[in-house]
Amino acid sequence: MNKSDEIGKAFDFRLFKRVFAHTKPYQIIFWVVAITAILSAAFAVGIPILVKDIINGALDSKNSQQLFTAIMFMLALLIGQVTMQLGFNYYANLLGESVIKDIRVRLFQKMMGFKMTYFDNSSIGVLVTRAVADMQRIGEIFSQGFFMIVADVLKMISAAIIMTIINWKLALIVFAILPVILVATRLFQQAMKVAFIEVRAQVSNLNSFVQERLAGMKIVQLFNREEVEKEKFRVINEKHQNAWLKTVWYNSIFFPIAEISNSIGIGLVVYFGVIQNIENIGLDNKGAIVAFFFLMDLLFRPLRQIADKFNTLQMGMVAANRVFKILDTSSHIADEGSVVKADVKGDIEFKDVRFGYIKDEEVLHGISFKVNAGETVAIVGATGAGKSTIINLLNRFYEINSGQIVIDGVSIHDYTLQSLRSHIAIVLQDVFLFADTIANNISLRDENITVSEIEAAAKQIGVHEFISSLPGGYQYNVKERGTMLSSGQRQLIAFLRAYVSNPSILILDEATSSVDTYSEQLIQQATDKITEGRTSIIIAHRLATIKKASKIIVMDEGQIVEIGTHKELLKKGGYYNDLYKAQFLEEEVA
Ligand SMILES: Nc1ncnc2c1ncn2[C@@H]1O[C@H](COP(=O)(O)OP(=O)(O)OP(=O)(O)O)[C@@H](O)[C@H]1O
Ligand SMILES: [Mg+2]
Repeated sequence: MNKSDEIGKAFDFRLFKRVFAHTKPYQIIFWVVAITAILSAAFAVGIPILVKDIINGALDSKNSQQLFTAIMFMLALLIGQVTMQLGFNYYANLLGESVIKDIRVRLFQKMMGFKMTYFDNSSIGVLVTRAVADMQRIGEIFSQGFFMIVADVLKMISAAIIMTIINWKLALIVFAILPVILVATRLFQQAMKVAFIEVRAQVSNLNSFVQERLAGMKIVQLFNREEVEKEKFRVINEKHQNAWLKTVWYNSIFFPIAEISNSIGIGLVVYFGVIQNIENIGLDNKGAIVAFFFLMDLLFRPLRQIADKFNTLQMGMVAANRVFKILDTSSHIADEGSVVKADVKGDIEFKDVRFGYIKDEEVLHGISFKVNAGETVAIVGATGAGKSTIINLLNRFYEINSGQIVIDGVSIHDYTLQSLRSHIAIVLQDVFLFADTIANNISLRDENITVSEIEAAAKQIGVHEFISSLPGGYQYNVKERGTMLSSGQRQLIAFLRAYVSNPSILILDEATSSVDTYSEQLIQQATDKITEGRTSIIIAHRLATIKKASKIIVMDEGQIVEIGTHKELLKKGGYYNDLYKAQFLEEEVA
């Protein structure tokens, strides 16, 4: 992404309109915010006018009754202003939070529909930043950016008008300082825009880095990478720091300039209004000079802060741009099929399937095989042969380049995704568990699956005892990614998850890591049970599984080299025979 792309024009109105379109469901809140912003500006401007009248009228004439009324008036104005401010703060934040709540839900929903390829090519840390930190920035467009700017502009315009009415000559003198502040503000704003894009990028980097290292902490410690990682982190951190310091630096330059301009303004008013006074300027009352001080503050202070608010607005827009980019990404598996089957028998056929994860890098070079309903087929082959890839295609995690995959005589493209996936259960090579109870990890919070059903299923496949032995049994919380369980145990939970969903087609990608004999037995027993009476494809690493299969598909480098039963293939003395000798013979002898 090009930096200047992201900055875009001075102000991107289309983007702005798009952000504001999200306030539609909150029209009432929107107007409450707008009105409180306007009123708080009006009250602010009312105060100097009142001060002028108090000094000129009530104070001069020493009329205590009049003074009392004026002071009461002043009090009412102040209370009004405070109330409006309060209302504004609350409702502007409410509006912002409501809008980002909606966008966030849409973003998450969008992400859930993305193809696996999208995730293969995205940094999880960056996506997390989009869904969390960037959202907050978008909210600030409402709570701290746009409406505040409107209120400030209103304040400034009214202050300028009132100054002109009180004494246009003195007002002109004050206005003479405005260009200095305006130019400084403009420069500041431009510098900040670039600086903040850098800040965002560095925050993203930091997020990704920390997230990844934390997830892979074992590797970091195992290979003594602490020093190296610390160094890398130091560099990223330093970039992050520098990016922030740049914004601080700009702030440090800008605010003194604004402050000095303000003081010069006060000096000029004192000089011309008081010292040169009446003949030259025609200022005929004390109240007016005091009112000028107030009004100048109303003119200059927002002008300084407006730059800050523009930054907030700009940062929000940059964030919105990034989030909308994800929302506009079309990376969905086309769900154009219409076939919905309540039941499938489970006949599967691959017809000359070619596929590559990356363009022009084919991984499967024309795969053809048939699995009859109810059969158990084993796929074996060296690592990287393309075994897991085959199952990634069956439920359309990825789209094939050419060929056809057919279930019960219907191409998988003709099923609705929902229907297709409802008939297939997959136990992946790396079992993923949510930070939740075992029961919820099995039912995936499907309310139609009761705990007693889960228990019954667990008994059937022989894992009830193991689960019951855990503290809390089915209510045992496995913590993030299931770290509280061994990999064999995790695999058993995944078996149960698949079994409970009662699919017509079961895919099992056996973990390559070896487990202890006891778990091995449990897994074997569970495997036998869950493959019973349904079409099963097992990517097998265990000899026992392979031998029981009605058919073995032997793969090498993205191609099927042999198909047959264990005995047939041994007799043939080909690739499988070699594989068997190299990998399994010892196992069998032992
Ligand atoms: N998400 C992916 N993006 C790009 N390439 C991938 C992806 N997943 C796998 N590959 C590549 O596809 C090829 C086949 O991988 P696959 O996972 O199917 O192997 P496998 O036979 O299951 O191996 P193993 O026995 O080690 O599990 C490998 O060369 C791998 O580099
Ligand atoms: Mg694999």
